[in-house]
Amino acid sequence: MARIYALVNQKGGVGKTTTAINLGAYLAAFGQRVLVVDLDPQSNATSCLGVDKNGVTGGTYSALLGSPAASLVLLNDRLKLALLPASPALAGAEVELVEEKGREGRLKQALEPLAESYDYILIDCPPSLGLLTVNGLVAAADGALVPVQCEYLALEGLGLLTQTIQRVRQSLFPGLKVRGVVLTMFDPRTNLSSDVVTEVNRHFPGQVFKAIVPRSVRLAEAPSYGLPILAYAASSSGAQSYEALARELMRGDGVKPAVRQE
Ligand SMILES: Nc1ncnc2c1ncn2[C@@H]1O[C@H](COP(=O)(O)OP(=O)(O)OP(=O)(O)O)[C@@H](O)[C@H]1O
Ligand SMILES: [Mg+2]
Repeated sequence: MARIYALVNQKGGVGKTTTAINLGAYLAAFGQRVLVVDLDPQSNATSCLGVDKNGVTGGTYSALLGSPAASLVLLNDRLKLALLPASPALAGAEVELVEEKGREGRLKQALEPLAESYDYILIDCPPSLGLLTVNGLVAAADGALVPVQCEYLALEGLGLLTQTIQRVRQSLFPGLKVRGVVLTMFDPRTNLSSDVVTEVNRHFPGQVFKAIVPRSVRLAEAPSYGLPILAYAASSSGAQSYEALARELMRGDGVKPAVRQE
């Protein structure tokens, strides 16, 4: 059965998509069968994997409206990474589902038939706490992965996320967990970054991944080539951090990595 995690933080630009793509690519390189679900109308995960979002017909949007998800998945053979792509049409789903019964459980329902086909499903949520993100949380059987950028006001807004998680627990999915906080865009030259690491660890004791993602030009460049970092700059510091994160996640999950395939 697939382990299902949602990358969530309503703050924009904190590294949700970068983490979904690069963690996913390393998990795949370690022999895991990985599906990345793009649940963001911005379709950044789709673009970052080299797929033209404007050419996507169906994708996550159709899956939410009831089409079988298996038929909508694209496979990147080289990376051994599967993608349920998004298109800008996904923005409409939020409106179209509003009147529907069980609207918060649509993604969970759509992914159920895929659970046997993958080891990991990573859901890239949009920067909001609306219906799409709630669908992501309800589907995240194994918890939320929360990227937090190492910058001023890093913790700002996390209270709102915690409230949303509580609300989802109370009304929809009592078992919802926070699997861990991923610190991103760490800059070793600034005291601020170190302060944020300390502060986040104080707020989320025992819940912060030891692997910290540094600010890395290579990580920011890779999407313009439609590649995850392991296929673009495998020896960069950013690549090493995501490899370490993948190992740490698997270790915590009791999953033994296969020898890494290039
Ligand atoms: N560690 C990093 N070092 C340098 N640049 C990064 C790093 N992580 C992400 N970026 C860049 O920062 C920007 C925001 O990252 P990303 O798209 O992953 O955030 P996000 O949380 O998914 O954003 P959104 O909320 O808009 O979906 C992107 O341009 C990305 O390439
Ligand atoms: Mg994103």
